[in-house]
Formats: sequence, structure tokens, C-alpha cells
Amino acid sequence: MDEQMRLEALRESQKALDLMSKSELSRDEQEAVVRDCVTNFDGFVNPGILEYRKSVSTDYTAVEWSDSGSTYRDVHGKEYIDCLGGFGIYMLGHRHPTVVKAVKAQLEHQALHSQELLDPMRGYLAHLLAMVTPGDLQYSFFCNSGTEANEGAMKLAKLYAWRRKKDHSKGIISTTCAFHGKSIGSLSVSGKAEFRRPFYPLVPGVRFVPYGDADALDKELAICDQVGFDIAAFIAEPIQGEAGAILPPPDYFAKVREICDKWHILFIADEVQTGMGRTGKLWGMDNWGVAPDIMTMGKALGGAVIPIGNFIATPEVFEAFFENPYIHSTTFGGNPMATSAAIGAMHATLEEDIPGQAAEKGAYLKGKLTELAAQYDDLFADVRGMGVIIGMEFRDADIGYAVSQGLFSRGVLIGGTLFNSLTLRMQPPAIITYAEMDTVLARLGDTLASVRELAAQGELIAH
Ligand SMILES: Cc1ncc(COP(=O)(O)O)c(C=O)c1O
Repeated sequence: MDEQMRLEALRESQKALDLMSKSELSRDEQEAVVRDCVTNFDGFVNPGILEYRKSVSTDYTAVEWSDSGSTYRDVHGKEYIDCLGGFGIYMLGHRHPTVVKAVKAQLEHQALHSQELLDPMRGYLAHLLAMVTPGDLQYSFFCNSGTEANEGAMKLAKLYAWRRKKDHSKGIISTTCAFHGKSIGSLSVSGKAEFRRPFYPLVPGVRFVPYGDADALDKELAICDQVGFDIAAFIAEPIQGEAGAILPPPDYFAKVREICDKWHILFIADEVQTGMGRTGKLWGMDNWGVAPDIMTMGKALGGAVIPIGNFIATPEVFEAFFENPYIHSTTFGGNPMATSAAIGAMHATLEEDIPGQAAEKGAYLKGKLTELAAQYDDLFADVRGMGVIIGMEFRDADIGYAVSQGLFSRGVLIGGTLFNSLTLRMQPPAIITYAEMDTVLARLGDTLASVRELAAQGELIAH
């Protein structure tokens, strides 16, 4: 690097450092931040993101700057009610004081761990999770994201099977429309062709059965047994989030548990999106009283302050990692910043009965959305969900786009899905107030009226 570039780089970093230290920006600074942000995304992040934002928002330059509770503000101070919930991370809302306090307290004496000594907060968090997770789940492995949690869970399942049978063909069965992450292993058990095809060959030995169909799982395992194809585990989401808030039949997971035991395979529950109260219980599995052998988590686990992922397993299964505890590892996993955030998050979740709030507020929201869907049955196909994970399915994708655009321009952020552009997701924080929900519902009512008008005039933009 030549001296001139070094000085320019220093000016650039100083500019960002000065800006980030301000909670309020002057008018000139606001404009500069938007200009820089668009230029930087275009030239150095990914111009495709700008195009995408242009299509879903009425002002694609909307650049976020601050947040608290259930709302965030763009650099110009426009406030949005967050009904996307960061695709599941904001169960406690934005910058929950208990989590922020925990992280600040930890930061005052240590940020990251030495990697060699024993870090106490990792121990406290692991103990805490063993106390609050279903069945005999006890030992935790901490990582940094949901996809890593699933990668690790699958490796543990394979290692457990390998130690029992010394067989190389340790397959995994997953479900159609599943979403478990985008790193190669998790992608291999995810169900959307568009994300999978460009990356073939994926991890071998994966089979799919229809989600919600326990008999199909039983039949597939019978076939695997017949042809000599060994399966290590079955992986499934308690509710399929990315697929559009798809609920399984009420007896599905009880049957899954029985079938996995019958065929001596492990059951991995992917609670990355459903965990920490989202479904109205602390874990999705608690809705059906079923205990998996391995459970993965992420998203809301760090209280939406510091990212953290985890998989937790029974002693019988996790023992496979005892002999060589570094057979699976990651540098930042279980670092003090992340574990202090997760301890703060769990404390707030239990203290404020976040699952109970999710159940009550989700029921209110779903009830009102169902009423709106009946009023606008020319636009809606379905409203479904559990707790604060609610899917609104429209009659076609253009309607869904128009609704999300209309809501964004009215100051409500809402999520699409990775599978089905017909379906929009409402995943507000559980701490959202009834007044905020009523505001969202009123703005949705206005949006639906204008979308109906556009549709009648044939003016919906095709996507
Ligand atoms: C059920 C589920 N599993 C795994 C993941 C992947 O998590 P991450 O994006 O943190 O890798 C997601 C993300 O949406 C998810 O919903």
C-alpha cells in the first residue's frame, strides 16, 4: 500500500468512527451517510442488494441508523415498526436493556477469550440451557450462527453413529421446503432448488420426505433399512419459518420421536427460528412435549445484541465429543461477548415471560389478521401461525409485493419468505405493545384498500 492510499484509508475510517459515535446526525451528515452508503453498497458490497431494496421499498435509499423497543429509525429519523423482527432475532426487541447491560458489564473486563483458559460465562450459559431445554439435553457447543449450529449437530449425529457402527454411509433425512442455512452441509438438507442447484454436488447421503408426514418418514426409513443405507439422523424445524410459517399436524413430532426411536436414529430439532419463545413456548418442541436428541438454536439466543449459535445434546449423544473435544471447534464460539448476551437474553426471557407474551400477542394479531383476510378475501389465501410467527398468504405474489411495499411506505417493516413470494411473514418482537399492533393493523388496512384498488385497475406491478 502506498502512503497516499494509507492516508486516504485513515480518513475513511476516521469518518466512519466519527459518525458512529453520534446518535443524532445533522441534515448534511444524514445526506452524506445516505450518499456514501449507496455508493459503498454499489461499489464494494453488492449492487444487487440496492436493486432488491428498490423493488421492495418505495425509497430504496432508506438507511437505518438507530433502534429501540419494537421500532427502528432511518438516518432521516423516519420510524418503522419492526414486524420482520430480523427474521426471528428480535424476540426481546431492539437493544433490550438487560442484554445491553450484560454485554457492557462483560466488556468492561474481557471481550474475547484466550482460547486456552476456561471461560466462565460459557459454563454458566451451558448450565442455564441444560436447565431450560426439553428432556435430557445437557451438553452445549457454542458457535456463531444458525447454519453453523446445524453443521455441528449433523457432525455430532454422524460421529455418534460412526462410533456405534463404524459405517461410512451416515445419511441424514430432511423435509421438503426445509431451511437449515446456506453453508454447504446445511444447504444439503435444505429444500429450495434455486439455492441448491448452483452448488452441486452437495453433501451426499441426504434424503427428503414431505414435512408433516410421519408415515412418509417411517416408509423412507424402512426403504433405507431394506437397501442397506444407514441413516444417522432426521432433522426438522418445529414450524417451517422460511417456507412461510408452515405448521405440522399436532401429533407429528410425537410420531417422529417414536419413529426415530424405532429405527435407532437421532432426531435433530432445528429451533434456530422457533426458539426463545417465538411460538408461544420457550422452544417450539415444548408445544408438543417432545424432546429431541440434539437441538440447534441461534437468532434470538444472543438477545439481538451479539450473534451466537448453539447445539445442545443428551449426554449419551454428546459423549462422542468427549474423547477429542477439538474434533469440532470454532475460534469465536462461546466467546464472552456472545455468552454474556445470551445469559442476559435468557434472563429477560424468563423474567418477562416472553413466551407467554408471544402467545397472547400472537393470538391477538392472528385473530385481527384473520378478520382482515375475511374482509379482503379477494387478496388473501390464508393466515396461519403460532405465537409471533404468522404467515399471510396472498392469492398471488404481486399482491404480496404490493402489500409489503405499501406497508414499508407506511412505516411498517415486514418479511417475505425464501420459498414462497406469495407469503409475507409477521414476526414482531414479543415485547411489541398492543398500541403498536393496532397501528400496524390500521396501516395494513389502508394498504389492503389501496392494493385492492390497484388490482381492480390492473395496475399491480408484476414480479
Ligand atoms: C430454521 C432455520 N435454521 C437455520 C437458519 C440459518 O441461520 P443463520 O442465518 O444464522 O445461519 C435459519 C435462518 O433463517 C432458520 O430459519
